[in-house]
Amino acid sequence: MRDLIRKQVLVTGGAGFLGSHLCEQLIGNGHDVLCLDNFFTGTRDNIIHLMENPRFELMRHDITFPLYVEVDEIYNLACPASPIHYQHDPVQTTKTSVHGAINVLGLAKRLGAKIMQASTSEVYGDPQVHPQTEDYWGHVNPIGYRSCYDEGKRCAETLFFDYRRQHDIRIKVARIFNTYGPRMHPNDGRVVSNFIVQALTGQPITIYGDGSQTRSFCYVDDLVDGFLRLMDSPDEFTGPVNIGNPVDLTMIELAEEILALTGSESRIKYEPLPTDDPVQRKPDISLASTELGWQPRTDRREGLGKTIAYFDNLLTRQG
Ligand SMILES: NC(=O)c1ccc[n+]([C@@H]2O[C@H](COP(=O)([O-])OP(=O)(O)OC[C@H]3O[C@@H](n4cnc5c(N)ncnc54)[C@H](O)[C@@H]3O)[C@@H](O)[C@H]2O)c1
Repeated sequence: MRDLIRKQVLVTGGAGFLGSHLCEQLIGNGHDVLCLDNFFTGTRDNIIHLMENPRFELMRHDITFPLYVEVDEIYNLACPASPIHYQHDPVQTTKTSVHGAINVLGLAKRLGAKIMQASTSEVYGDPQVHPQTEDYWGHVNPIGYRSCYDEGKRCAETLFFDYRRQHDIRIKVARIFNTYGPRMHPNDGRVVSNFIVQALTGQPITIYGDGSQTRSFCYVDDLVDGFLRLMDSPDEFTGPVNIGNPVDLTMIELAEEILALTGSESRIKYEPLPTDDPVQRKPDISLASTELGWQPRTDRREGLGKTIAYFDNLLTRQG
């Protein structure tokens, strides 16, 4: 019989940015982790420090194909998350969300395992409601360049709720808002990594549009804490629940903060806004606060400081 405290946990997308932090935390909490990844955007470097740990196992697998493993809990994070990556092969992106969800839900059904989906604030599209609460259905373009990601994630949510209604699976859905921290990709076009790399290498900081659009950023440790609380919440609580930082700032403010923290002399350069780029996005986290007792705790300067240190080290190693 299995130890009730020490669980076998599957993390799909475990070699990615968020997944690697989640694997680390789960192992730290005494669980056994099976990290599944096809290394499309994730790397071995993100999990290299876990490889020798007897509680950690790595499985190279594409989630669009079924898998047969024995676990108690599943965190489904496998999916490229930045526009550059998910638009590279949009059909595969939709497949990863949709076929991937079907495969992990089928596994959860067979095992009676609890399963969490890493959904996204992109399910709200270009929102007409601010801040976004979970009962807002969104404003999404179904045929645009971002649709493979947005609609794929929306369909995955549908599948999670239909599996619950039809097969009584224990599901959890987290809607993740912009998250940052060490192990973000250096070249994936996401704003925090972009600005930091540009500042550290003395290149101009690129702001799309006039820089007045706002975003909010959650530090990765806070996000992982939200995941763990959600997984441990009572079975009746399924979400969807927003996990993000409601403190927002404009892109100009972010650029100035990063310039100050890095001591960089890079100048700011303005470029046209990409299509379908939401003007404003900010979570309402009342539900997470009430149901999970969760809120982000990391001060932005502290989080940015750790992220800058990570990129500084990475760039030095890359020469
Ligand atoms: N980082 C954020 O701000 C953010 C925001 C909203 C949602 N999310 C969601 O969180 C999850 C993790 O995001 P991340 O930022 O860590 O991205 P990431 O790209 O670093 O991680 C995704 C991981 O999934 C793997 N993967 C992709 N397709 C796969 C497939 N078909 N089979 C197996 N593995 C596959 C990649 O190799 C990578 O390791 C994603 O589902 C993403 O949509 C992230």
